[in-house]
Amino acid sequence: MARRGSTIAGMGLSIPPRTMTNHEIEALVDTSDEWIQTRTGIRERRIAADDVATSDLAIDAARQALERTGVRAQDLDLVVVGTATPDMLFPATACLVQDRLGARRAGAFDASAACSSWAYAVAVGHAAIAAGRAENVLVIGAETLSRIIDWTDRATCVLFGDAGAAILLRPCEPGQGFLSFHLGSDGAGGSLICQPAGGSRIPSSAESVAGGGHYLKMSGREVYKFAVRTMPRAIETVVARAGFAVDDVDCFIPHQANLRIIEAAAKRLGQPMDRFFVNVDRYGNTSSASVPVALYEAVESGRIGAGDLVAFVAFGGGLTWGAAAMRWTDGAAIGQGRLGT
Ligand code: ACO
Repeated sequence: MARRGSTIAGMGLSIPPRTMTNHEIEALVDTSDEWIQTRTGIRERRIAADDVATSDLAIDAARQALERTGVRAQDLDLVVVGTATPDMLFPATACLVQDRLGARRAGAFDASAACSSWAYAVAVGHAAIAAGRAENVLVIGAETLSRIIDWTDRATCVLFGDAGAAILLRPCEPGQGFLSFHLGSDGAGGSLICQPAGGSRIPSSAESVAGGGHYLKMSGREVYKFAVRTMPRAIETVVARAGFAVDDVDCFIPHQANLRIIEAAAKRLGQPMDRFFVNVDRYGNTSSASVPVALYEAVESGRIGAGDLVAFVAFGGGLTWGAAAMRWTDGAAIGQGRLGT
């Protein structure tokens, strides 16, 4: 049995104020509000202002998590940002966050596993605390996907949005807080969701820009099949690792990519939809921010309370997936309402 566990001591949320409806997208590409809602469940998404980068959303959410727990930035040991849309390839967005918070003692790095990045980051943060190497770990999921979307590609531009959320991890008694993790990857499917250019394989050039190589590319139908297969398996695995049955879970927090994917996962698991928290209708797919934003809203709305068994599951590019089971602990500070940027 682990000497100690980790739990969520506080949370913060950063939602860009600008809402973009499906009707606005109808003016950009050949699509319809009806098609988008029927195929995805998405009604609207948030778009960050031109002068707002991923680190700005991350810092806004992080400051709230710190304020609400009373933990000072200088007492942070580690800052991890899960993101697929960092401000730059390097320095890591986590370093920008660490500097602007004044977290002088903290190590900082980004976790890069596309939409699963936040789940990977939480697993690392938990491990640091459980091993006795850290007391205060800030784990952030933040994205400005609108910056890498091809707004002329109807197959992808309807799906994504911008957001950020942060959690502060602190030690707790074993058997409370995070109980188990399950991380996986299948790199053979890497080309199914990717941003091909801008790295060492296809460096940025006039040709790479002209060819649209810096935009997100996705084989939607293949990713859909992968997601429907992977989400239920990941949930079953992580819940079993924690010593429970799927029926014991009070609330599932799934990656918010598509309502149909969540419904298919619920069906495969034999679980009613009211056990799955859903907000994809209001935010679309916010990648690494999706699960922590949903978690924040589930706690804020009273859907999750002390003692509840909660299971998270994310999936995304890589291909990757990441799941966690936790016993929700009392006193996780989220404050009243959300603070925009
Ligand atoms: N509006 C209108 N028609 C559209 C649109 C649109 N926005 N997009 C596609 N279509 C058309 C297609 O061209 C196709 O037309 P055709 O039959 O004449 O060829 C038709 O609609 C059906 O297209 P499909 O791709 O088969 O539609 P599907 O029902 O599979 O829905 C979707 C597409 C929503 C993208 C779905 O496949 C999906 O959700 N996939 C998973 C995506 C996902 O989860 N991505 C996140 C990964 S996480 C990450 O790391 C980024």
